Amino acid sequence: MQTQLGLSERGQRVAESRIAGLMQRALEQPGLISLAAGFVDQVSLPVEATRSAALAALDEPEAARAALQYGPTAGNAVLREQLVEYVTRQDAAARSAAPAAAELAVRPALRSDQLVVTAGSNQILQLTAEALFDPGDIVLCDSPTYFVFTSLVQGLGARSVGIATDEHGMRVDALEQELERAAQTGELPRVKAIYVQSYFDNPRGVSLALERRAALIALAERYSRAQRIYVIEDAAYRQLRYRGPDLPSLASCDATGESVIYAGTFSKSFSPGLRLGFGIFPSALARVVLALKGNYDFGSPHLNQCLLSSALARGLYEPHVELLRAAYARKAEAMLRALDREVAPLGFAHYARPNGGLYVWLELPPELPTGPDSRLFARACELGVLYVPGEYCFPQSSQAVGRARSSMRLSFGVQSEERIALGISQLGRAIREQVAAR
Ligand SMILES: Cc1ncc(COP(=O)(O)O)c(C=O)c1O
Repeated sequence: MQTQLGLSERGQRVAESRIAGLMQRALEQPGLISLAAGFVDQVSLPVEATRSAALAALDEPEAARAALQYGPTAGNAVLREQLVEYVTRQDAAARSAAPAAAELAVRPALRSDQLVVTAGSNQILQLTAEALFDPGDIVLCDSPTYFVFTSLVQGLGARSVGIATDEHGMRVDALEQELERAAQTGELPRVKAIYVQSYFDNPRGVSLALERRAALIALAERYSRAQRIYVIEDAAYRQLRYRGPDLPSLASCDATGESVIYAGTFSKSFSPGLRLGFGIFPSALARVVLALKGNYDFGSPHLNQCLLSSALARGLYEPHVELLRAAYARKAEAMLRALDREVAPLGFAHYARPNGGLYVWLELPPELPTGPDSRLFARACELGVLYVPGEYCFPQSSQAVGRARSSMRLSFGVQSEERIALGISQLGRAIREQVAAR
């Protein structure tokens, strides 16, 4: 069959998205409460802000025509300057709020030629992976991590290797151990990158602790022998912070500016419909990524970029983010209250209270598998609730997988507080039934 299709090796390698299967299920069962999708809150999408940003962007005919024309491959020049200013300001504020940050190295001043605007930060991950990974190459990731990233790594024939994490993010000792192991076995030249989500990660809601940030860069540099090992910093959930101070990004601690690639997005903090993200690259890599992007689309939709630029210039973005923080903090609380009521009394479940992001990671004991073929998953669906099986979130090979097969990712992004409570109550029922049946 593959011979008939004449697929490339890459075409043969790409597996059908497992998430597409979950989405299909949600569509086929109307009324199903999906705690699976990482979609954002529908009610708080910025309709008014986008309307006034659009009117302003299209008000003057010459500017409107420019917005409706193709833009530069790297992105609209004004927007790129705004983003450089935005990230620089955000990191400066995070540093002044964190006394321990005084010890950290400071990256050279950011320039807009290091910044590429893309169709969502997923495109940054894709372009970076294509620029760096050959079949057989290795990328070290949190375990668990963002499944779209590991799937794209696999699609390129490269391998994701999981590094143990705890409540402060990737464990630096475990990372060092893996790098040393690779050095001993001769695999180090294949290790091209370390992928970390530095803020409220998907799927656990955990941030990388401040003191680990510089240590992680130092390790990447120390083991950059035959070739550089980059740190890919995915900051998708940075803006969705409910409690505690912002932390300086890893990119801002990269003294040479040569090690860290920073991926940001406006999908979670403004609108995924605009689908705009941006990457900050070491200069030499920025040129390669731009050449790749030139082959794909020679620039992300220009009108969307002009809309976002207009929203930033009119001060419409940050007040919106403030609103979102309050809305998601309430939804997170609704989910945690329901878990405290429905699941905690069972005495064996573990979940942490996230300070930001969209997810709660629930771990059950190993005798309660959560996978797509498990009885728990089937029963939860029958009772009208869908989750992401934890095993989807683990890299191809992992240290310390622990409860991989008995964990789940629960998203409080898209459902209302009432439906979150109802969904968790049905999930609690499904779990209790499985326990009783044992
Ligand atoms: C960790 C992480 N990174 C990146 C993305 C990509 O988002 P977008 O391409 O919309 O910017 C997501 C989306 O869910 C995500 O969870």
